[in-house]
Amino acid sequence: MQSPSSSPSITARTRRADPSDPATLADVLDEAASILREGGLVAFPTETVYGLGANALDHEAVARIFRAKGRPSFNPVIVHLASSAHVGEVARAFPLAAQQLADAFWPGPLTLVLPRSAAIPDIVTAGRDGVGVRVPAHPIAHALLERSGLPIAAPSANAYTRVSPTTAAHVESQLGAAVDLIVDGGSCPVGIESTVVDVTGERPVLLRLGGVPREAIERIIGPIDRITAVPDDDAPRPAPGMVERHYAPQSRLIGFTREQRGEVWGRIAAMVGSGVRVGLIAFDICSAPATTNLLMPSDAQGYAQQLYAALHALDRRGCTVAFVERPPDGPAWEAVADRLRRAGLDAR
Ligand code: TXA
Ligand code: MG
Repeated sequence: MQSPSSSPSITARTRRADPSDPATLADVLDEAASILREGGLVAFPTETVYGLGANALDHEAVARIFRAKGRPSFNPVIVHLASSAHVGEVARAFPLAAQQLADAFWPGPLTLVLPRSAAIPDIVTAGRDGVGVRVPAHPIAHALLERSGLPIAAPSANAYTRVSPTTAAHVESQLGAAVDLIVDGGSCPVGIESTVVDVTGERPVLLRLGGVPREAIERIIGPIDRITAVPDDDAPRPAPGMVERHYAPQSRLIGFTREQRGEVWGRIAAMVGSGVRVGLIAFDICSAPATTNLLMPSDAQGYAQQLYAALHALDRRGCTVAFVERPPDGPAWEAVADRLRRAGLDAR
């Protein structure tokens, strides 16, 4: 009989990293660090989403990330560091605005695009002169960076154009055997990706909304322009007239307002009655007739934390359509609105 460890695995190995069990935690981190040093791939939790990590200084290892995700090579990956003291190893300059933002938000959900150093292989930056750098706040991500002694290149650990993972199970279901080890650290506390600010030019520009609100950035460095000329995340290069769609579940998303509840409940009941698997993502799911009813928190941070898990649940439950109650307008909801739009929610 084969022992479990020698049987062919169809999914990646997942190991639980539990801070209340320090001996096992140390063992998991040691294994993860040695896989990274040998050029392998480790999925690990950060405070935003799970990352698919490789040694950022190893071209071949980073190439494996792109293959595992099915990601096109024109899209740069973020380099994660244990602290801002390591910036000089990956960037040749640390402009003042960047230092101010780093002081305010690192460790945390902010990525700064800095002028790259010669140590960074082309594949990491997709040939650009800027390198995306982030110091994550999650204790497991931090411990892995310290233990490996490496800068870790890591995009979100999802398949190309799919919803980012906020649990180890999400990573398993999308990337399975392509990863050498998945470190399970529970669900990610922020739940959406980092805010990306490019500080390589004369004026800082906002490339992606995310975990640090735009308002908080502007309190530190003043008004900031948002540009989307750089293809964001896993997005296929937008062709004219093509809707930008990624972070996307399989189901079609249809928005509704609180006032439309009665009518929407009726539509859902009729669809379910004719055999359609229908999802509902709402602030109140009382007596809702959908196949999968997902209750969302009423505050923007709580909503962001649960959003991707809700989208993953729609996929898991085989929903082909889902009704989404529109979140409020306003700056606090800007990043959530951005992710819902990319997930395919129609404009209001
Ligand atoms: O929260 C996050 O940022 C997560 C965790 C794992 O850190 N990572 C993540 O990586 O979302 P990814 O690859 O899915 O998205 C990275 C974003 C993309 O929008 C990419 O275009 C941008 O950062 N980016 C990375 N490096 C860049 C660079 N050198 N220049 C411009 N944009 C860059
Ligand atoms: Mg991504």
